[in-house]
Amino acid sequence: LYANTAIIACDRFSKDFVAVPNIQKRIESILSDAVVAAFGPEHADADPLINPTKDPKFGDYQANLAMGLAKKLGQKPRDIATAIVEKIDADDLFSKIDIAGPGFINLMLTQETVNQSAETILADLDRLAVAEVDEKQTVVVDFSSPNVAKEMHVGHIRSTVIGDALARIFKFLGHDVIKQNHVGDWGTQFGMLIQYMDEMPEADREAHEAGEGDTLNTIYQKSKQRFDAEDDFAQRARERVVALQAGDEETLVVWQKLVNESETYFDAVYKRLGIDLSLDDIKGESFYNPRLGNVIKDLKTADLLKESQGADVVYPEGFKDRDGNPMPMIVRKSDGGFLYATTDLAAAQYRINDLNADRIVYVTDSRQSQHFSMVFQTLREAGWAPSNVRLDHVPFGTIMGKDRKPFKTRSGETIKLVDLIDEAESRAAGILADKNPDMDTDTAAEVAHTVGIGCLKYADLSNDRIKDYIFDWDRMLSFDGNTAAYLQNSYVRCMSIFRRGEVDPSSLSGAKILATEPAERLIVLKLLQLPNVLQSVADSLEPHRLTNYLYELASLYHSFYEKCPVLKSEGETKISRLALCLLTAQTISNGLALLGIDTPPQM
Ligand code: ARG
Repeated sequence: LYANTAIIACDRFSKDFVAVPNIQKRIESILSDAVVAAFGPEHADADPLINPTKDPKFGDYQANLAMGLAKKLGQKPRDIATAIVEKIDADDLFSKIDIAGPGFINLMLTQETVNQSAETILADLDRLAVAEVDEKQTVVVDFSSPNVAKEMHVGHIRSTVIGDALARIFKFLGHDVIKQNHVGDWGTQFGMLIQYMDEMPEADREAHEAGEGDTLNTIYQKSKQRFDAEDDFAQRARERVVALQAGDEETLVVWQKLVNESETYFDAVYKRLGIDLSLDDIKGESFYNPRLGNVIKDLKTADLLKESQGADVVYPEGFKDRDGNPMPMIVRKSDGGFLYATTDLAAAQYRINDLNADRIVYVTDSRQSQHFSMVFQTLREAGWAPSNVRLDHVPFGTIMGKDRKPFKTRSGETIKLVDLIDEAESRAAGILADKNPDMDTDTAAEVAHTVGIGCLKYADLSNDRIKDYIFDWDRMLSFDGNTAAYLQNSYVRCMSIFRRGEVDPSSLSGAKILATEPAERLIVLKLLQLPNVLQSVADSLEPHRLTNYLYELASLYHSFYEKCPVLKSEGETKISRLALCLLTAQTISNGLALLGIDTPPQM
């Protein structure tokens, strides 16, 4: 079958093999050395500001440090750039170095460097030559975190999908990742729920337990209605809260049942969505309940606890209310009840002291920004989060309907996550049936699932997360444009070349790359950016940097495919082009996998 593939075997790892996987890092260190050689060791820390160029006519990389350095040294930027260039010692890495405009240093890689760098990636297809970080951290990612007895709705998709992608990327970069699903499983609402369940007619309860009666979500709503309408029910509900907090056994049994039922349901949603979150990752609010008293004590010890109208509060520095008065963060109400913030303080203590977190990442919508700022500030002031522990809130905007109002059903209700998943799959199935009517039913269903879920997640991840975005089925499922379907289809098309050409992709290992055509070179240069893109996602916590990257790569691939015949070429050229197809396909599929998105074998 693979008979007509002739691989030119050669020893690519001879002693003069100079390519390193992270070429940008290498260029950075060369430029830093040149700066030191030109201006002395006191400038060793100056960031060389290396970036891939936008336009190939300016070379492959650009160094933009001359302008800043010129200001510091009181000299002309062009003179600075010239002095740096004279000191560049890069043993054959660059074929051309020139200075443009006010003092941009343009760097062009030698053909040999480009070819060999691509060969390095080909030799490490699993990791695409992305090295693990030198300093491994323990990163806690707090995400998804739905509330017990409430349906997961459209509002939960963002935290779940963004958090999952970030956790995957941290892990791939070599960090120890601890996922924490901070489920809302504690609080006064459970008094009302448990009391309602307790008073429910036996038949209704049996129906519920058999999965035929009211769902937990409906029970929650009905219990809330009773709570609001009936004073004596409200009173019994409040007594239930007291019983729950006092650890009353019978009450705890009902509570645990509610929690288990909800968590089973969350788990099913995660499975359908392909979210890498298990029941073991749940560390709900209730877990911290026994620690809340200590938080108050510790705040007192740290001399941060103040009193305001009978409540215990802290005044984190830098927060003022509308009248310019210090803004309190309540940690214990006058009735003794603890708050969301108290639990977050306890959770942070646990994560830093018990889990040894170096970094904690909280993925919630931007309405909680102030809450987290106040919590972080308190943790710093109390000395519980030393300055070497990084705390990040990852805020995101709201999903809007086409009417630019928060996305709702036609009748104005919030959209359940499961309904959204169903619709994504059925719409994808419809589109795929049109494009490929001959696919067998099972395969078609599987592909529809992969494409539908992929598009749903990708739409979320590809938007600058801080902005609101408009939910638009047609756009997110389109086969053209910046969508999962486009990338999945690009992958399938890349791989179809191997089938058509009867080439076994694994036969390309060790192939020689000749990226001489401009379109070929652009692909390799794009491939070389992957380590920096992933690092920048980990720093900025912005997954759309990776989606943009993959989209750009796929677009470069399509123009390569138009300009450079693959199966019609011959000899070394053919092998090299096939290898570029494989590298592109693998990068798209690994990149999507890091976002939690699968690639179908066909579509
Ligand atoms: N359950 C909360 C909500 O639905 C989100 C929890 C986020 N995590 C945290 N540590 N506060 O808004």
